[in-house]
Amino acid sequence: MGNMRLLVTGGAGFIGSNFVRWLLNSDDASHASLEKVVVLDLLTYAGNLANLSGLDQSGKFRFVRGDIRDEALVTELLQVEGITHVANFAAESHVDRSILDPLSFVRTNIEGTQVLLNLSRAAGVTRYLQISTDEVYGSLGAEGRFVETTPLDPSSAYSASKASADLLVLACHRTHGYNALVTRCSNNYGPYQFPEKLIPLFVTNALEDKQLPVYGDGKNVRSWLHVDDHSRAILAVLLNGRAGEVYNIGGSPEAEWENIRVTREILSILGKPDSLMRYVEDRLGHDRRYAVDYSKIKAELGWEPKVRFEDGLRMTVEWYLQNRQWWATIKSGEYMKFYEQYYSHRLA
Ligand code: NAD
Ligand code: TYD
Repeated sequence: MGNMRLLVTGGAGFIGSNFVRWLLNSDDASHASLEKVVVLDLLTYAGNLANLSGLDQSGKFRFVRGDIRDEALVTELLQVEGITHVANFAAESHVDRSILDPLSFVRTNIEGTQVLLNLSRAAGVTRYLQISTDEVYGSLGAEGRFVETTPLDPSSAYSASKASADLLVLACHRTHGYNALVTRCSNNYGPYQFPEKLIPLFVTNALEDKQLPVYGDGKNVRSWLHVDDHSRAILAVLLNGRAGEVYNIGGSPEAEWENIRVTREILSILGKPDSLMRYVEDRLGHDRRYAVDYSKIKAELGWEPKVRFEDGLRMTVEWYLQNRQWWATIKSGEYMKFYEQYYSHRLA
């Protein structure tokens, strides 16, 4: 990692903050030449400085509040900090919100990516990594897994905007030979995940003895990836991935669970009754199954997931138990407006 000066956009969100903490705290020898990590984050409803607490003491770390679409700010930041690598995590990331407000997904996920890409290239940033999602491939039936060449077939404004961004990044490589590449990961879980997503929403609702709204028949399948396994994959791709390529990153086959199984496991870990579960009206355009073939990153970069889902889920539930202040603050604030708007008729 020859003198890497890394810009992490969206680094106050769930995955970005876990990645930065992992990068700065891990003793992996390959981190030794990491000179600096700068986080640029707009602090939308999903961004939270508490996610980065404890890191301000590190001389290697700086936080800047701002929008990836702010050309003047980004240009100055790239120059002043001498940024060599960009990892773009900044996004509107919640499928249900993209049903209510698709335009904000176009603005941040598509326009934001193009602005950041243009400015990174103009500033001579050595490498640009786009953090994307397996949701760009759409939905699987009962069989099969996504490979990097699976046709893009997104179902939501969220996944359609992420697919668009991926294509812009890959086109920039093809047009200009720019050193850009894309990772597509499956559903992450772990500490500091905003309690609008399945696992943290259900853990925190259960802790408050509130209902757990299971969409449809609860048999949709997700491939669960612990955020630390994801961080390790991102670093591997950032350092050694091939420009212009896409790398799938997913949970192992044992981590492909139906939502209802995840829900029951959470209730069982917490010693709460199954009666808290409530089947509700399905999400519009709800993808049935995601599963990821990660043999490309395994063959090229030696990565595979290590955390067993049952263990990771238990550790994650434990974290939410011990960090009540973190999520109680979020759940008492702005987030409740979305919760009321989206769930009130479902849970009525
Ligand atoms: P998140 O919603 O927790 O965090 C997103 C962060 O981006 C927030 O801190 C927010 O303030 C920031 N942001 C939003 N708009 C911005 C803008 N215009 N300029 C600067 N910052 C802005 O999301 P996450 O779950 O951490 O996901 C991170 C990335 O990983 C996203 O690109 C997402 O599409 C992708 N991803 C997430 C998952 C998952 O399971 N969470 C799975 C696959 C891919
Ligand atoms: P989510 O965490 O929103 O991730 P994604 O939609 O990006 O996969 O949802 C994970 C799964 O859980 C998905 O199949 C939808 C389902 N789900 C519910 O059943 N109820 C809920 O309240 C939420 C938020 C999700």
